[in-house]
Amino acid sequence: MSSLIDSIKGKALLAPLAGISNLPFRLVARSFGCSMAFTEMISANGLIRNSKRTFEYLKSSPEDKPLGVQIFGADPEVMAKAAEIAAGNGADSIDINMGCPVKKVVKTGAGAMLMKNPVQAGRIIKAVVEKVNIPVTVKIRSGWSRSSINAVELSRIAEGEGALAIIVHARTADQGYSGVADWSVIGKVKNAIKIPVIGNGDIWKPIDASRMMHETACDAVMVGRGALGNPWLFRGIHRLLTDNANDYLPDLEERRAVIMSHWEKEIHFLGEKIANKTFRKHLLWYTRGLENSAQFRKKASDCNDKESLMNELNKYFNFLRQSEH
Ligand SMILES: Cc1cc2nc3c(=O)[nH]c(=O)nc-3n(C[C@H](O)[C@H](O)[C@H](O)COP(=O)(O)O)c2cc1C
Repeated sequence: MSSLIDSIKGKALLAPLAGISNLPFRLVARSFGCSMAFTEMISANGLIRNSKRTFEYLKSSPEDKPLGVQIFGADPEVMAKAAEIAAGNGADSIDINMGCPVKKVVKTGAGAMLMKNPVQAGRIIKAVVEKVNIPVTVKIRSGWSRSSINAVELSRIAEGEGALAIIVHARTADQGYSGVADWSVIGKVKNAIKIPVIGNGDIWKPIDASRMMHETACDAVMVGRGALGNPWLFRGIHRLLTDNANDYLPDLEERRAVIMSHWEKEIHFLGEKIANKTFRKHLLWYTRGLENSAQFRKKASDCNDKESLMNELNKYFNFLRQSEH
């Protein structure tokens, strides 16, 4: 248990991101110093029903450690069984999703709906903690809505039921991902409990991480969208937090090498057919903000296979190199 806390304290973690935080992306983030990463949310029902598709989300590798497996569901018994399955399939910790605002999830009583139902939330945490002997964390929102901020109440329940740490996404469920995260909620949670608090929401640059830690006294930060096309953010954060050093920005050649290595990992772990679809979004993120990237994006969308896409990418980077001089 304490070794997981060592991986968390004073560090930057990769958030669970549906459709994004798969094994290849986690490995890329880790290569830049991300200290812990999470699977995307996995249906507890899917796991106990032995759904092949659901099990795909558990795919990991020896370098993919420590790995938090995030599960969602509304039934304590089902969640406990699912946690047991995840623990038997390589999870280093179980994270319970209490933040997903998507209708399909919320209407079953799972995800952010649990912010509205603290009693059921407590039952779920208790059942999971009792069932597995790996650490359990809970990822919550500030509350359901601005008029019902209850992160402190939920955190106290989580601590009381034996959670190892709590992750606070400082937005309300009805905010979705819009608006600015209100970090003061993270500070209030930190003041109320003794277990480590991981702050989350709007970390786009290293300075945001140090500001969040300073303003809220949180024990660690979790990065979501800021890491998309920008996995070196973890190195920048690490440098700033440990040595007070400047941000880390890769040059063009390193950027290209990271893209290629990420792409190769997608092909290696997912197969070329799937990678062809899943990697496109990363290419767009990796080139966002670079000169003439709109033109590259347009050309990339016309490519049907890996070779032509790689060809376009190489041409684009040649263009970038030339325009640098
Ligand atoms: C595309 C996308 C998918 C997400 N999937 C999950 C998920 O599976 N589980 C979860 O707890 N949070 C999920 N989140 C929320 C993030 O983990 C994080 O809490 C949120 O994006 C705020 O952090 P950020 O401002 O650094 O992005 C998702 C967010 C996005 C944008």
